[in-house]
Amino acid sequence: MKIVKKNLKSQVDERGELTVAEIGHDIPFEIKRVYFLKDLKTDVPRGFHAHKALLQVMYCLSGKTNVLLDDGKNKETVPLKAGETLFIDKYIWRVMSDFSSDCVLAVFASELYDEADYIRDYDQFLESVKARKTHG
Ligand code: TYD
Repeated sequence: MKIVKKNLKSQVDERGELTVAEIGHDIPFEIKRVYFLKDLKTDVPRGFHAHKALLQVMYCLSGKTNVLLDDGKNKETVPLKAGETLFIDKYIWRVMSDFSSDCVLAVFASELYDEADYIRDYDQFLESVKARKTHG
């Protein structure tokens, strides 16, 4: 599994910090939706799903978290801290955990919200990964 983690470019001057995310450079798709996660319970993990079509880039604005990525074969826990982005491909099971109390996440998404695009059952996720391999 290829982990694509980047730092967004920031300009810091005496007025503060300005951070830029560019389509094609930092985000490998046209963004149709952005959502934000904040006031997260430090000991309550979230996610526990994969998507059939959706591509996402998770951006940590503040604090830190750990993101478990699982492609059905390999699992990797990726630490994400303020200023960093993580690309999450389709058919990747993800679990975010260990949020710092100041953790704020923005998620850039390639599609509008569609509950039918979610796979929320882990066994079904493994079946879907197998079926994709068999049928291409
Ligand atoms: P969910 O994606 O399950 O959150 P997480 O993976 O962080 O645990 O979404 C939580 C709830 O919010 C769920 O009921 C669906 C709803 N939701 C929307 O209505 N629109 C959205 O764009 C997102 C991401 C979630």
